Amino acid sequence: MLKPFHLRASKAHQRLVDLAQSVGQAHLRDLFANDESRLQRMSASVNGLYIDWSKHRVTAEVMEALVALAEEAGWEEGVRQLFAGEHINQTEDRSVLHMALRGLEGDDFKVDGEDVMDDVLSTRKAFGAYADSVRSSGRITDVVNIGIGGSDLGPLMVTKALRKHSNGGPKVHFVSNVDGAHLESVLEGLNPASTLFLVVSKTFTTQETMANADAAKAWLVAALGEQAIDQHFAAVSTNIPAAVAFGVDADHIFGFKDWVGGRYSLWGPVGLSIACAVGSRAFNELLEGARAMDRHFATAPAAENVPLISALLGIWYREYLGFATHVVLPYAQDLDRFPAYLQQADMESNGKYVGRDGKPVEHLTGPVVWGEAGTNGQHAFYQLLHQGTSIHPADIIAVEAPLSQFEDHHTKLLANAVAQAEALMCGRTEKEVRNEMAAAGRDADAIDAIAPHRVFKGNRPSTFMLLDELSPANVGQLIALYEHRIFIQGLLWNVCSYDQWGVELGKVLAKNILGEWSGSIAHAAHDASTQHLIQRLNR
Ligand code: F6P
Repeated sequence: MLKPFHLRASKAHQRLVDLAQSVGQAHLRDLFANDESRLQRMSASVNGLYIDWSKHRVTAEVMEALVALAEEAGWEEGVRQLFAGEHINQTEDRSVLHMALRGLEGDDFKVDGEDVMDDVLSTRKAFGAYADSVRSSGRITDVVNIGIGGSDLGPLMVTKALRKHSNGGPKVHFVSNVDGAHLESVLEGLNPASTLFLVVSKTFTTQETMANADAAKAWLVAALGEQAIDQHFAAVSTNIPAAVAFGVDADHIFGFKDWVGGRYSLWGPVGLSIACAVGSRAFNELLEGARAMDRHFATAPAAENVPLISALLGIWYREYLGFATHVVLPYAQDLDRFPAYLQQADMESNGKYVGRDGKPVEHLTGPVVWGEAGTNGQHAFYQLLHQGTSIHPADIIAVEAPLSQFEDHHTKLLANAVAQAEALMCGRTEKEVRNEMAAAGRDADAIDAIAPHRVFKGNRPSTFMLLDELSPANVGQLIALYEHRIFIQGLLWNVCSYDQWGVELGKVLAKNILGEWSGSIAHAAHDASTQHLIQRLNR
């Protein structure tokens, strides 16, 4: 079990508070000017990923203090426990071993002393073969993944990211929302005879997923009859009996274990939609990329450990500089669902105020994670990123190899990515603005009136991540990097990163309201506002 850690009572804490007052307020332009080796010290390459964290408001001294903080929290012991399958998901008394899902033969992953790799590898083989058979059958043109949260966001994000690797595979669609418009809009234009539904739910009880699965089944049966279910439905779950009861052929049900958290599950059969989209070989490359990041995380020393460094920078901003959000800006349209995926991975993991000792924590925990594909974000919210009153540390993710046949687009895209990182950091001084306006022939009055609005203070931090190509392996290692960042942050924030009790209450109350409307639950007490809405919407 991960030991409780009280960040504000640690030895490193006061040092970091002091550094936040000094170094934390220094301008990045000055930090660069005073340190010639800054970029070289604050950048690294891990396989196909180049990462530059030099544009962060830290010095070597700050990084040392942050590493000292991580050491006090016992990060190495934490990593050992994670990989050893100890029950670090303490409130659910479970291991957290999604890394095993990307393991290879000979890897040592055990849960409660039992080796899990045989089972992982045989399941991988089975669902990979199934996906390949779907691809080669010529019978299935469209695959519809029905799931929500971790049973949707990861597979959807990766399927989009690997668009170029489809190699003639079926179109893959995703239905998640319990708003029937989602299912309806996906079914429009689909031919039941060539459609395969994947019902993906760890629990196989989730309201949204079951409502969509039931409706999809009715749609299929109305067109092709009951006997068609066998050939048109597959399921992925830890709850095999429920999938059988739903009517899915046992050969098309792929199980996984409760030591895989929903938001960490795309690496196993939950990734069936990905395997259908790109085939088992590319899917395995995705796993290999993630496994390479696992190896890096588990073995690299602190000063070179990319997920650790990324996590510590996040802690610095949240706790010591008080920045409340973390913005993720993929300069790749095919990664446009990455921010949404990361919202669940990060916010469902670390958006918690109760510590591992069951007491409210005294420090700040997970930031709001948000973002949008560049350059669309530039024409929407970047105004606030550059000149707003709050600061939002950014991760800019770009890809070196062209992402489409339109290579000139790619040149422009990359120029924008680099320019935004530069603009965020350097800003533009009043002197620069005044000189520029004078050179453009503006008169003194106009310069006085407009110049203040055109000044950018800069000093807005960002990490620049550059993938050499948007390959399955690179996508795998990018995701694994964030998974491990989340682990380290949860460790230092003293929260239980692998449960999600905060999503329970809303589910229960929605069930109650449905019960009240249907008459199966007696009228319950509500506040006046809620009561009015329930009455007004009574159907
Ligand atoms: O949102 C809560 C949650 O439990 C997520 O953690 C999970 O990914 C999602 O619901 C879907 O759950 P399931 O896969 O069991 O349908």
